[in-house]
Amino acid sequence: MTRDEACSELLKRHDDVVFAYPVYFSDLPQIVREFICENSANFRGKNVFIIATMEIFSGDGTGCAARILSEWERR
Ligand SMILES: Cc1cc2nc3c(=O)[nH]c(=O)nc-3n(C[C@H](O)[C@H](O)[C@H](O)COP(=O)(O)O)c2cc1C
Repeated sequence: MTRDEACSELLKRHDDVVFAYPVYFSDLPQIVREFICENSANFRGKNVFIIATMEIFSGDGTGCAARILSEWERR
């Protein structure tokens, strides 16, 4: 989904976004990190509800994305 251009277009059109990903090594999967960075402008000002799925230990599963998003928000 993150490599689908339609996903970026959808992001532009909505103010409330549910963002879900699996935790990999207590962190974001690389593809998810890239998606956030490539679409950072389109996340600005949006309400983002984050869901991080995990197996046994997420570390800071949702915080990983939340920190990146709030960092872009401050720029
Ligand atoms: C490369 C890789 C790394 C993973 N690292 C973690 C991890 O650090 N902590 C954890 O709880 N689960 C980890 N998982 C499990 C995934 O988060 C889990 O499979 C995903 O959330 C989907 O859940 P499901 O397998 O029950 O469908 C990892 C999975 C993979 C493939």
